[in-house]
Amino acid sequence: MTASLAQSAASPAAASPTATAGDGAQPRIATVPSIRLGNTGLPISRLVLGTMTFGLQTDEQTSHRILDIASDAGVTTLDTADVYPLGGGLATAGRTEQIIGRWLQGRRQRVLLATKAVGVIGPAAWDRGASRKHLLDGIDASLRRLGTDYVDLYQLHSDDPHTPLDETALALDTIVRSGKARYVGVSNFLSYRLARLIGRAETRNLVRVVSVQPRYSLLFREIERELLPLAQDEGLAVIPYNPLAGGLLTGKHKPGAPTPGTRFTLGTAAERYQDRYWNEQAFATVESLKAVASDAGIPLTTLAVAWVLANPAITAPIIGASRPEQLAEVLAAIPVRLEPALKLRLDELTAAYRRGDAGR
Ligand SMILES: NC(=O)c1ccc[n+]([C@@H]2O[C@H](COP(=O)([O-])OP(=O)(O)OC[C@H]3O[C@@H](n4cnc5c(N)ncnc54)[C@H](OP(=O)(O)O)[C@@H]3O)[C@@H](O)[C@H]2O)c1
Repeated sequence: MTASLAQSAASPAAASPTATAGDGAQPRIATVPSIRLGNTGLPISRLVLGTMTFGLQTDEQTSHRILDIASDAGVTTLDTADVYPLGGGLATAGRTEQIIGRWLQGRRQRVLLATKAVGVIGPAAWDRGASRKHLLDGIDASLRRLGTDYVDLYQLHSDDPHTPLDETALALDTIVRSGKARYVGVSNFLSYRLARLIGRAETRNLVRVVSVQPRYSLLFREIERELLPLAQDEGLAVIPYNPLAGGLLTGKHKPGAPTPGTRFTLGTAAERYQDRYWNEQAFATVESLKAVASDAGIPLTTLAVAWVLANPAITAPIIGASRPEQLAEVLAAIPVRLEPALKLRLDELTAAYRRGDAGR
């Protein structure tokens, strides 16, 4: 176990750069501290590396380089999913886990691994969802691709309204008790469904979910109204994705046709990401945010991730890169402490993204 893993940093503000032992004899400086995964005793890194670019947008060699850089910076925790890479389909599903699996050889004990199931992974009607059959098949298939006999966190990629919550809760319990996952969590759940899942697990004395993985950024704040208060009440870790709104919050995109080679033109994901963020309101907000970033003397990319980190309900944002050089500006968010006035300015500028489709 590295020193950064052993470090307990329940308060992120208390965490500081830590010397860790690397592969060789030379100690190296880890800039990313650790934080407990919700109410568990497990220290994950304060930034989690997302991997969904690996295997389509990013080739294997480049993916391994991204993993090396993040790992050297102290990122101990990886997030993936059975259906990745993003932008592909059935023909490519599973590639990302295989790429990670090859990188993991000889490193498994120094890495915390989170994966997910529920998305469509095969042609049969049961190759998706949160049924007992699919989750038990799914964990075995992920473990084979990852070349390991357990994952640290197994997550439901989304809610499955067609499977009774009790069936899903029991399957997650089986997976943890079999030793194939250390903990379980959910992603993309409405608050009331997550509250019910927790309640059913409690009633039946089953293993509880410990984390939630929602979308969250300066351009998407709806989770502040219900999900974050629920997570705080229940002691759930919050490990949000899309902290840069798929790259829009870098400020590099311009209205008009999306830039080729980026998330907004990426295969089957292009339309979804354009739907989410490629609109006049988002571009106007990014322009205002750029001015704030410039006044603060912080790159917008760094500021956007620092703003997510500044929310006390957030455990660890999941960052992503399609090229190794993109990581530096994101990792630079770790030491940034937003002045209250700057935080307030950012909150006010993006208040509209908190309201969602609220009727009142
Ligand atoms: N549970 C879910 O449903 C779900 C959904 C989405 C993501 N996730 C997880 O969260 C992870 C992170 O999500 P995300 O990739 O959407 O995060 P993000 O931070 O919103 O977007 C990352 C993307 O922004 C661009 N970028 C990042 N740094 C940059 C820089 N310095 N300069 C210029 N461009 C930069 C890159 O895209 P380009 O190079 O294409 O511009 C990069 O791939 C994923 O890998 C996955 O593990 C989960």
